[in-house]
Amino acid sequence: MSHAFIVHGPKDVDSLLQVHEALRRAGIPDWYEPPGADSPESRHSVAEAIDKAFAMVVLVSASSIRSREAQAQIERGIARGLTIVPFRVDNARLSGVFKKELAGSLRHAIMDEGGLEKLVAEVRARYRHKCPVIAVMNLKGGVGKTTITSQIFGAWQAALGGRILLVDLDPQYNLTQTFFDMEAADQSAARDRSVISLFEKSRLHAPDVPSPAESWSRLSTEPFPTPAIADLVHPLLGENGPGGVLDLISGQFEISKYAFATDKAALDAIRLNFLHMVDHLRGSYDLIVFDTNPNATFLTKCALEASDRVIAPMHPDMYSLRGVKLLNQVLNEQIAEDVRPKLSILFNRVSRNEQSAFEADARNGAHDQRAGFKLSEALLQHPVPKSGHLQVRSPEPDQEPWKSLIVHKGRGGGLKSIRESLKASAAEIRDKTSAEEPS
Ligand SMILES: Nc1ncnc2c1ncn2[C@@H]1O[C@H](COP(=O)(O)OP(=O)(O)O)[C@@H](O)[C@H]1O
Ligand SMILES: [Mg+2]
Repeated sequence: MSHAFIVHGPKDVDSLLQVHEALRRAGIPDWYEPPGADSPESRHSVAEAIDKAFAMVVLVSASSIRSREAQAQIERGIARGLTIVPFRVDNARLSGVFKKELAGSLRHAIMDEGGLEKLVAEVRARYRHKCPVIAVMNLKGGVGKTTITSQIFGAWQAALGGRILLVDLDPQYNLTQTFFDMEAADQSAARDRSVISLFEKSRLHAPDVPSPAESWSRLSTEPFPTPAIADLVHPLLGENGPGGVLDLISGQFEISKYAFATDKAALDAIRLNFLHMVDHLRGSYDLIVFDTNPNATFLTKCALEASDRVIAPMHPDMYSLRGVKLLNQVLNEQIAEDVRPKLSILFNRVSRNEQSAFEADARNGAHDQRAGFKLSEALLQHPVPKSGHLQVRSPEPDQEPWKSLIVHKGRGGGLKSIRESLKASAAEIRDKTSAEEPS
């Protein structure tokens, strides 16, 4: 779990609670030493908490400027390369490490109008940057969304590391079936250990409530407590497998019910539940990836609002181009500018031997007008070649899920070259995503 670490002085109790409460409302986990708790043991947990933090918020006050603990915490944060966001809570004169290291970045103050909101916005941008969310989407079926989600991001985990969460947002739940047989997938859904628990209060949150999957006409709009991550996700890499973190939130058919719901207020409420849960999950992962359905629905809007980037796989042909064009329209017309994700296009299933005329045209801008946007600029450089290894096969019953990942399959038969392609695509997406400065 990663969090914002808050540095404070012993007398900053009121402002500490104000900041804590504002971060909590924004869905951002935080960590601070309870005032008056200083001891050798607590110093150890403080050090650990700084090392796990994604950012450090420093309350700048007469009390913190005089505090040795606060100074030591700031120095550790700087040594760890943490982003430090100072926040003035009184008018004390800066000295020591506060003057030397923080004066230049002291932009927000509790006394300023909207000062607390500005602090939260900056911390939120850092939080999102720490764990980007990618939606794999094209408003066309069969272009490789599910294959890309499992195989490229499986290769990302193996080659580039990090804790990665895959979320199956397609009611057809093919991604889940890539890793588990149908029976195992349905058993999990029967306990609400699945994607439905991101939207509605379910038996995962409270054992005595009816499952939201049982009623297609009722939406449960109540807010719910965030469940323990281990109760919600399925680890894919296993104890005896390759190790590392690649988890799945499994899909299920019943989330189709949202496409039929007409109660707008109820849909708004469960969309907010979903966005809040995704923000909560960012605390435990370095990357979250959605596999999505091909038709524009409520789920599409949810996925796009929660994402920082869309990867749209397309075949080098006109039908796929149309899917991408529609996707770009949905992005621009349905998603507010301040939360709109960036769009990258990935050619999938290209011939290994020669670039098609369609791909060449797309790259030199000849299809931009037909696409209605600068397709040539949105294209990722590395395509994914057509390969028999990327053809889906259902797993054997009881097969360990990681065995479905090409990156962990043996040698021979062209596996090496397809693996290199998947890794090259993963590295390109990583570089694009991490190059973006938090806004
Ligand atoms: N690069 C590829 N080479 C060969 N087959 C592929 C490739 N990408 C996807 N496929 C196959 O194409 C079919 C559709 O892919 P899928 O990922 O399920 O698409 P979507 O999720 O967009 O509907 C599947 O049978 C899959 O195995
Ligand atoms: Mg699919």
